[in-house]
Amino acid sequence: MKNLISVKNYSNKNLETYKKALEIYKEKSEEIKFLYKKIDDHNIEVLEKLSQKIRSQSDVFIIIGVGGSNGASRAVIEGLSSSDIKIEYAGNSLSPKHIRKILDIVREKDVSINIIAKNFKTLEPGIHFRMIREEMAKKYTKKELEDRIIVTGTKDTLLEKIAIDNNYKFLEFDKEIGGRFSAFTNVHLLPIAVAGIDIRRYLKARDEFLNSKENIEKILEYASYRYDSFQKGKVVEILSSTDPYLSYFNKWWVQLFGESQGKDNLGIYPDSMVFSEDLHSMGQFIQSGNPIFMETFLRIKEYEDVKVYNSNIHDEFEYLDEKAFSNINKAMEEASIKAHLERNIPIFDIQIDSLSIESFAALFSFFIVAVIISSYLMGVNPFGQEGVEKYKNAMNKNLRSN
Ligand code: PA5
Repeated sequence: MKNLISVKNYSNKNLETYKKALEIYKEKSEEIKFLYKKIDDHNIEVLEKLSQKIRSQSDVFIIIGVGGSNGASRAVIEGLSSSDIKIEYAGNSLSPKHIRKILDIVREKDVSINIIAKNFKTLEPGIHFRMIREEMAKKYTKKELEDRIIVTGTKDTLLEKIAIDNNYKFLEFDKEIGGRFSAFTNVHLLPIAVAGIDIRRYLKARDEFLNSKENIEKILEYASYRYDSFQKGKVVEILSSTDPYLSYFNKWWVQLFGESQGKDNLGIYPDSMVFSEDLHSMGQFIQSGNPIFMETFLRIKEYEDVKVYNSNIHDEFEYLDEKAFSNINKAMEEASIKAHLERNIPIFDIQIDSLSIESFAALFSFFIVAVIISSYLMGVNPFGQEGVEKYKNAMNKNLRSN
């Protein structure tokens, strides 16, 4: 199998930490098993058929969900940007401007929607689902609504009841798997399939990646680097991706690490940047500001390339004539790694083969296993997110009393 991810640790390795990480990996193997969960063939066929139907009947597919309920699929869809059907996201803000835009789309285009919520108590997706389905009900018959509304929810919740009562197609959101860990479940498989991406290739790549001992070693090395850097006072980790098509992956990664590790007054604060753009702003801080961070690079090795045009107009960029853009990007990457190393920033370099569905499968697998080991290394339980629930309950109380 192709080596989908290669890594290089530029910081000082501590063998003791690596051994501890390995012990945790073995001890917690039961807790990691959910990631390997097989999706049976029948389920895949259902998703494929459903996605074809949605694609054929819609101009726009609206994903209603927030956080772990839309993060992974958005990272893939925006990263591969290959969708021939327009995809919109809703239920992830409380912006009046955005809901107005979405309602306009519903009025003007043929739409299908997928509401995704684990417990259906979260306000943002809940209220957007109501607004959008009511708007849809103004133009579609009951039968058409049944064909155009797909519900992904946990069994025995109000959301399932709504689906049953209204004859909407229901996909199960696994009770055992939290949103941010759900990259390989119905939650994200349907949106990815609707975007025209092959979910069989995606699942196969996950299996192959996780079944390689070599890949697990890379994950352990990454978890060790995080822990060792934290011990040296590096309380922030920057994920520096070097391509804007990884922006939504960055967002998924920030949530994964923030929500899993930020507990008990502990955790490494996860931040992310997209180079080269952010080098023109935060590059200053990285180079000369408070040295509180470690830096994880995320780079892409192979591209479908394009060469710089020659030009008769003298612009002092002649030294770039006919150079491949990928080489120019690489020059930026190598230069920033070098400059940041000279500042003694601990650096871990992760490279994916290319921007492909297989690479996304490998990245999700890599970081989900990593966050579990890394959290236990710090003494934090990665599962659960009581902090988020607190704010949700407070907002709920406020709105009910006003
Ligand atoms: O990872 C998590 O569990 C959370 O980020 C949830 O995905 C997020 O809060 C949305 O929850 P729900 O799907 O229940 O609306």
